[in-house]
Amino acid sequence: MTPTFHVVIPQFLHDPGLTMAREAARVTYWPEDSPMPRERLLAAVNDADGILSHPASRFDRELLNHAPRLKVIANIAVGYDNVDVVACTERGIAVCNTPGVLTDATADETLALMLAVCRRIVEGDRFTRAGGWRYWTPLLLVGQDLTEATLGIIGMGRIGLEVGRRARGFRMRILYHNRHRRPDVETELGATYVDLPTLLSESDFVTLHVPATPETRHLIGAAELERMKPTAYLVNAARGSVVDQRALATALRDRRIAGAGLDVFDPEPIAADDPLLQLENCVLMPHVGAATQRTRQRMSELAARNLLAVLSGQTPPACVNPEVLNRGR
Ligand code: GLV
Repeated sequence: MTPTFHVVIPQFLHDPGLTMAREAARVTYWPEDSPMPRERLLAAVNDADGILSHPASRFDRELLNHAPRLKVIANIAVGYDNVDVVACTERGIAVCNTPGVLTDATADETLALMLAVCRRIVEGDRFTRAGGWRYWTPLLLVGQDLTEATLGIIGMGRIGLEVGRRARGFRMRILYHNRHRRPDVETELGATYVDLPTLLSESDFVTLHVPATPETRHLIGAAELERMKPTAYLVNAARGSVVDQRALATALRDRRIAGAGLDVFDPEPIAADDPLLQLENCVLMPHVGAATQRTRQRMSELAARNLLAVLSGQTPPACVNPEVLNRGR
């Protein structure tokens, strides 16, 4: 590949992705943990052929207007709601993502959220540190069982399936709802396909694994929360927009449901005055489902492979608008 390609990396990037990009192209790199400021990014993409970016940067029409040479945005995430894919496709810009490599880490975090909220782990930590523990008591921090509970998985893709596999270890009964039935999953997990109202009313844990799209926006709102059992928990490690966050805060405050474990919010970061921050019965994480050392490395590698493949006229391993790839070849 010609090193005359210019690649912009607007936020810290793990290896090997960073080294791979640097070996193949001229790189403008923002090494901070926070993203390159917008004005600077708009200037940096002026002669960029490729961008290797985390979801913290937004790629909309305004940015694309500043990037006339751009051929690829390699997002370092499986989600790509930070990218205007329609606008990219119109301009022949490939949009790539990193499916698969973060499945295990995200499924692990989902189980961690479920356990944390039903066994009141964070509350217990706060209580112990605050010096509130004077004697053993049978009423202290009593929660609910995960083992043998009913799990409702909404979205049976890669991550939903891995959550289901882990849930089998807890002898959970598994219900799922998906755009289409998955007979393979039904056989493997013994999972039962149900409609959304049934899933909501029968599950002890409802976990979301759908992408952010106009169709999934506020998939869980006041009416859906109303259908859940008062002893049930909601877990969201997918995207914040899938849940009506105000309705969720109200349901949690009024104990309409028992609790929630959330890794994602709308907007992100969560607003300083968001009522969720005042509630004890939810565990909140700052969008870190894929944040393990190994997963970050694998994501960087796959994103760099996507980027370099497009720049060298090859088919990238994971492209969300493959229709642009054959144009002009
Ligand atoms: C993280 O949120 C991702 O979409 O990979």
